[in-house]
Amino acid sequence: MSHPLLKVSGLRKSYGAIKAVNGVSFEVMPGEIFGVIGPNGSGKTTMFNSVLGQIRPDEGRIELKGESIAGLSPLALNRRGVGRTFQTLQVFGKMTVRDNLLVAAQEHRGSLWSRMFVPGDSGLGDKADELIDLFRIRHVADKPAGSLSYGQQKLVDIAMAFMSDPDLVLLDEPCAGVNPSLVGGISTLLKKLNQSRKGSFVVIEHNMDFVMDLCHRIMVMVEGEVMAVGTPAEIRANKQVLDAYLGS
Ligand SMILES: Nc1ncnc2c1ncn2[C@@H]1O[C@H](COP(=O)(O)OP(=O)(O)OP(=O)(O)O)[C@@H](O)[C@H]1O
Ligand SMILES: [Mg+2]
Repeated sequence: MSHPLLKVSGLRKSYGAIKAVNGVSFEVMPGEIFGVIGPNGSGKTTMFNSVLGQIRPDEGRIELKGESIAGLSPLALNRRGVGRTFQTLQVFGKMTVRDNLLVAAQEHRGSLWSRMFVPGDSGLGDKADELIDLFRIRHVADKPAGSLSYGQQKLVDIAMAFMSDPDLVLLDEPCAGVNPSLVGGISTLLKKLNQSRKGSFVVIEHNMDFVMDLCHRIMVMVEGEVMAVGTPAEIRANKQVLDAYLGS
């Protein structure tokens, strides 16, 4: 029996009277793709930001490979193998796609000095090329990221999270605003990255087909609480979830 890669227990975060995250516990196993679904405002992003050191939760334990990571900065977490993508695009529009990837890795290495330069090489070029091919963005690699379609920028954004060879990546709505024709491509990519790198993902998404197809297990959040955790088939058949969320 393997140990959880990520273990969250009793997580709470309030904003005044709003209990954004109200006692959330879950575990993500090595190699697992773990989905998080729930209505708008159910606390998904707040949960992510708490796990990722972006905000300080009021309560709760957060463990990575059995060690507490509570209170660590996003950079410190990145160095421990945790990557993320944000609900909104984080690419630098004026920089080329390739330089965006290189800078994402520099961020990981973390030296302020090194970030003053976009490196010609340092082993990172090969990694960037590998991801550029995997994400099929070779034809735009030397273009300013801002000149790409929204969907393609989203691909760059996702690729950036993988430059640091993370064990765990948290993706906040990777399909949001993306043309439906690209959604299947993102799913295929994530499956490939999951298999080739044995990485674990936690994926927040509103696109139900995407979540059901991609994830091994899914957690349903409603009003800051966990309503259910299970396989896609179990979640689809869960009456409480159907009534509260999947509806109709
Ligand atoms: N910085 C903040 N200050 C005050 N309230 C906040 C803040 N961040 C989140 N909230 C509130 O906490 C609740 C949970 O928000 P959160 O963004 O975590 O939801 P979500 O599940 O990610 O929603 P969505 O699917 O729309 O992205 C909401 O009621 C939101 O208004
Ligand atoms: Mg959100």
